[in-house]
Amino acid sequence: MTATVETTPKTGGISSQQVQPKKIGIPKEVYLGECRVAATPETAKKLQKLGFEVLVEAGAGTLANFSDQAYQEVNCQIISDPETLWREADIILKVRPPQFHPEINKHEAELLSEGKTLISFIWPAQNPELLEKLAATKATVIGMDAVPRISRAQKIDALSSMANIAGYRAVVEAASHFGRFFTGQITAAGKIPPAKVLVIGAGVAGLAAIGAAKSLGAVVRAFDTRLEVKDQVKSLGAEFLELEFTEDGSGEGGYAKTMSKEFIEAEMTLFAEQAKEVDIIITTALIPGKRAPILITKEMVESMKPGSVIVDLASEQGGNCEVTKPGEVYTYQDVTIIGLTDLPSRMASQSSQLYGNNLWHLLKEMGGAQDYHINTEDEMIRGALILHEGEVTWPAPKIPQPTPPVKTGTTVTTGLQESKSKSLGSLWLLIAGIALATIGLTAPTVMLSHLTVFVLACFLGWMLIWNVNPALHTPLMSVTNAISGIVIVGGILQMSGPITSPVVILGAIAIAVATINIAGGFYVTQRMLNKFHK
Ligand code: NAI
Repeated sequence: MTATVETTPKTGGISSQQVQPKKIGIPKEVYLGECRVAATPETAKKLQKLGFEVLVEAGAGTLANFSDQAYQEVNCQIISDPETLWREADIILKVRPPQFHPEINKHEAELLSEGKTLISFIWPAQNPELLEKLAATKATVIGMDAVPRISRAQKIDALSSMANIAGYRAVVEAASHFGRFFTGQITAAGKIPPAKVLVIGAGVAGLAAIGAAKSLGAVVRAFDTRLEVKDQVKSLGAEFLELEFTEDGSGEGGYAKTMSKEFIEAEMTLFAEQAKEVDIIITTALIPGKRAPILITKEMVESMKPGSVIVDLASEQGGNCEVTKPGEVYTYQDVTIIGLTDLPSRMASQSSQLYGNNLWHLLKEMGGAQDYHINTEDEMIRGALILHEGEVTWPAPKIPQPTPPVKTGTTVTTGLQESKSKSLGSLWLLIAGIALATIGLTAPTVMLSHLTVFVLACFLGWMLIWNVNPALHTPLMSVTNAISGIVIVGGILQMSGPITSPVVILGAIAIAVATINIAGGFYVTQRMLNKFHK
């Protein structure tokens, strides 16, 4: 299936279209229950600024609360029948993959033809027949589901913008089926504990769910196989659950990799414990192109408190919960199982706006109407290119990944380095031992007792200062504060005797300076922390 798209050397790898496309068509979605539309009046206006004319099928935005009149007000042309729209437009922007159109009794793919471009979700791996149908039209097809997950492509990453909405909506759905507040309250009528939410998989949807649940006041815990998300989870105020198991799940392209059987077993033991405790579980665990792993078993669901809720975002890929029914909401043993697969469509106005923005960014990257081209050397465009003038170009060649940085917390020394540093340490210990033994054998008795106190003080000081936990301030400040603390204790010990004695004066100065250092440190820290408070 793989085919490389030939590039034109004269244009630096850019194969320009012969005819510059001018018209963009926005058809009404055919998929039953789909409320989204590929352009809102706002994004249509932005497309016009790129030099395109925008044609909208009558009623295309109605279910997302955008009337035909709203499109007309921003100079879009309303076309009443789908066949005319597809025929007139050079570029078709859609949400759902083309499908059979019951009103015109034709498959949408048949409305495409040579020279046209379709930009939509396609899911080529799941829809091989559709791919064949589309290839037969000799059209160019860009799949929004195939946009690579690289930093540069974030603005056109429609999977992420939809997953973000899905994560938020998952919490809204959970809240509407959960019979209690999310936030804890102490009222005259009684104390209400906060709801406990467990989010499995802290990718785009998971992080959005954590943020939404946290803002409603719930106690949120999260788990992910990719350790790199730990800080993101914590920054949203949730607790990151960890396993005593060394295996990182980071895979290629910002996605996860399949975990070992042992790891899955270990995490399931953790979930079994959590299931008894938490009120809501939101699962989003997925490895692209694979069936979603079953992480919540029937037994775990049965162990949950009555009234608990599970939202399984991965339901379309088989579900993370054993008893999920894709597309359905039902009650299993007093636990509500939400397996909805259309969460972004349930917030159609918002998701159409974000999806429309993704498409606008993509067309801007492609040069707008004036300089429209398909740059196959741009990894962002190449990744999303499914068909180029009828030629199958999917899947795109893998983007070389940069060497991953060494993870903090893992052992960074190689075996050789480790043994070298160990032998260096032993050498120093040996030299120190010989020096101490020589001094012990030759030095006078008074010197020996001073030396013992000195060595013990060094040891104690080292243990005391280096074990200070930099909780509220920087490690450097905690160390200087610990040293200042020791200076104060030393100063106080010297403060006996006449006030004019130089030792007492020096002791007093030492106490004053060390106190200024400690108090000043806390004052500066407080000011820094205040900058982060709203
Ligand atoms: P993502 O790839 O950003 O996140 C998935 C996360 O799951 C990753 O962080 C990954 O490390 C983690 N994961 C994988 N295996 C795991 C395991 N065994 N244990 C714990 N964590 C594991 O995906 P994204 O974009 O956040 O989407 C999440 C899910 O939501 C997908 O299944 C997607 O299809 C679905 N989705 C559902 C919608 C709906 O309407 N129901 C709408 C949009 C997305």
